[in-house]
Amino acid sequence: MILFRMPKLSIGRRTVPLPIVQGGMGVGISLSGLASAVAGQGGIGVIAGVGIGMLEPDYYQDGRAANIRAMRGELRKARAKTSGFVGVNIMVAANDFHQLLDTCIEEKADALFLGAGLPIRNMPVARIRAAGVLVIPIVSSGRAAELIFKYWQKSYGDVPDAVVVEGPLAGGHLGFRADRLQDADQKLEVLVPQVIAALAPFAAVAGKKIPVIAAGGIYNGEDILKFLQLGAQGVQMATRFVATDECDADRRFKEAYIACRPEDIAIIKSPVGMPGRAIRNRFLDDAAAGVRNVKRCAWRCLEQCDIRHADYCISAALDNARRGLLDQGFAFCGANAHRVESIVPVAELLESLKHEYDAAFIQSLATLRDETIHALENKFARLRQDYVLARQQLAAICDGAGKAWEVRKDSLREDVERTRAMVEQLGRDGETALKKLQALTERFPEKLAELQEIARRFQAGISESRVG
Ligand SMILES: Cc1cc2nc3c(=O)[nH]c(=O)nc-3n(C[C@H](O)[C@H](O)[C@H](O)COP(=O)(O)O)c2cc1C
Repeated sequence: MILFRMPKLSIGRRTVPLPIVQGGMGVGISLSGLASAVAGQGGIGVIAGVGIGMLEPDYYQDGRAANIRAMRGELRKARAKTSGFVGVNIMVAANDFHQLLDTCIEEKADALFLGAGLPIRNMPVARIRAAGVLVIPIVSSGRAAELIFKYWQKSYGDVPDAVVVEGPLAGGHLGFRADRLQDADQKLEVLVPQVIAALAPFAAVAGKKIPVIAAGGIYNGEDILKFLQLGAQGVQMATRFVATDECDADRRFKEAYIACRPEDIAIIKSPVGMPGRAIRNRFLDDAAAGVRNVKRCAWRCLEQCDIRHADYCISAALDNARRGLLDQGFAFCGANAHRVESIVPVAELLESLKHEYDAAFIQSLATLRDETIHALENKFARLRQDYVLARQQLAAICDGAGKAWEVRKDSLREDVERTRAMVEQLGRDGETALKKLQALTERFPEKLAELQEIARRFQAGISESRVG
């Protein structure tokens, strides 16, 4: 019997049955196919916006127009397949960021997941709100979250609806310096509480909940439970969703995940200047060795990328990988990609995550029970010790008192007898004195009369002698 279920995830006024967001994966790895499958099963599906126009035949003629058309098309396809929650992932650093944003607002995407830069300047907040679209920035620190929220509060009198905090085990471009990826203070377990604390004052002022969604290296139901217990309201997972039937990449891309070993997963320096995690292959080894593999740049899709200095066009390399041409590109992946064993339907993956979560929940209850019993046993043992000690001390006191009584009881008895005799004597003396006083009091009027008579005669004697 399954007793415990994953909690739902609420963002703004929307609630989805599962606290699982499928992370956006460009180029073309998470499109309408994967996003609608995840949304249809109760999670949040996300269409990746970066390089999405590469699906269109005219990308190299008009990249911006192709991106907009492809984004609109994928959102509509996803809508046709599901009424579930479908969001989009847009890179703030993309040169057509605002155009893609406008398209997604027009199409009423359920949410905008905004990463690779801070979504602060020129945000069309009024239009976003009017369209009922949620805004969810992706950050890698509490400081970045605070910066975004402060800016929004000051400039727009509003704040975003949730935050994804992405740790150093994620796939794709990473928001950390390459030499700091292993630092203890950059672990997702540290970042999640940090971001929750940074957002608390904004949630209080805005009077709304701002859920934090943990991402990067979350692999199974046990991991999901761990981050929910740390205070996250949901998790974002990407690597696991690559190895699904519905993932939009070519089967060879998915098989690269199944074939890779831990030592094949590497941190690369991407032409956009950020570190990224990917499966090592000949293409990447050549690039690391300085082999230039640049054919052409369609339209400088990313602000930071300058093809004159780049070893390859990252959009083209990722698009080739999506199409299964892994000798002309490479696959981004999370740190746990080597654990992926098979390609399964999204429904099966989610079902196994739910079962693992339930099992981990029951296990965590059993652990809690054992820890509580252990703590109680310790406390009981300590109390027993204190009790035995107290008993011994009391016995010693009683013993001492008994002995003292034995030694002093005779002299005490004599004291008592003497005191009693004194009291009795005092009583007797008092009675005698009382009787005497009584007698004196009774004879007082008679004595007074006698004295008065004597005085009278004395007075009369004096008068007679004067006359004689
Ligand atoms: C193949 C791949 C492509 C990715 N592309 C993007 C992207 O275009 N934009 C983005 O914000 N994150 C991207 N990511 C990061 C994921 O959305 C996600 O946050 C992260 O990988 C989660 O960690 P996990 O893969 O260990 O589950 C990508 C990840 C992978 C594996």
